[in-house]
Amino acid sequence: MKPLLIAPSILSADFSRLGEEIRAVDEAGADWIHLDVMDGHFVPNITFGPPIVAAVRGHSKKVFDCHLMIEPCDPYLEAFAKAGCDIITVHAEATTHLDRSLQAIRALGKKAGVSLNPSTPESVIEYVLDRLDLILLMTVNPGFGGQKFIHPVVEKVRRVKRMIGDRDIHIEIDGGVTPETAPLVVEAGADVLVAGSAVFKGGTPDHYAANMTAIRRS
Ligand code: DX5
Ligand code: ZN
Repeated sequence: MKPLLIAPSILSADFSRLGEEIRAVDEAGADWIHLDVMDGHFVPNITFGPPIVAAVRGHSKKVFDCHLMIEPCDPYLEAFAKAGCDIITVHAEATTHLDRSLQAIRALGKKAGVSLNPSTPESVIEYVLDRLDLILLMTVNPGFGGQKFIHPVVEKVRRVKRMIGDRDIHIEIDGGVTPETAPLVVEAGADVLVAGSAVFKGGTPDHYAANMTAIRRS
């Protein structure tokens, strides 16, 4: 079994002090840093692009886990790789040629992930499993932090866990993760938990550490 990893989503951080906030969650025990890239097209919100990723890269040595909610994604993969992303995750719904996108990410020397919206069946990744390092299952409709966990996805986690067999692929959950919902997805097979509002609530480094401990203990 893989150890449980916590990846705070900086979407819930104070953007005016982003570098400082990343350092704070790093020191508070984050395993990875989750960066939500939104384009106002694939999802109804806009966040940041490669220049911001590059600007904050120096603030933590932890894995930069980049969740691209952008369509198209292929033209920007190289820029995100150069900006310092370690894992690049694209949405299956945002690329016509998923196999090609995943090959492109690995060709850039990065770990490749695919994300599925809550309504997307796991069958879309059946033939790309050997190109994957990570499967990101959305437990909210992507676009905003602080939304409610969508429970039917727990069954999808179980199915994906069965599907990957003994392959070395992370199952990551994103959206509405709290000490209440975390045990449901971990029990179903998830090993990486993204949490935005549940980690950053309180607004100080002491809160961040306590919030992550609460999720781990749950
Ligand atoms: C949603 C993002 C998530 C989001 C999670 O589109 O991909 O990473 O920030 O936020 P919480 O944990 O608040 O649901
Ligand atoms: Zn995300």
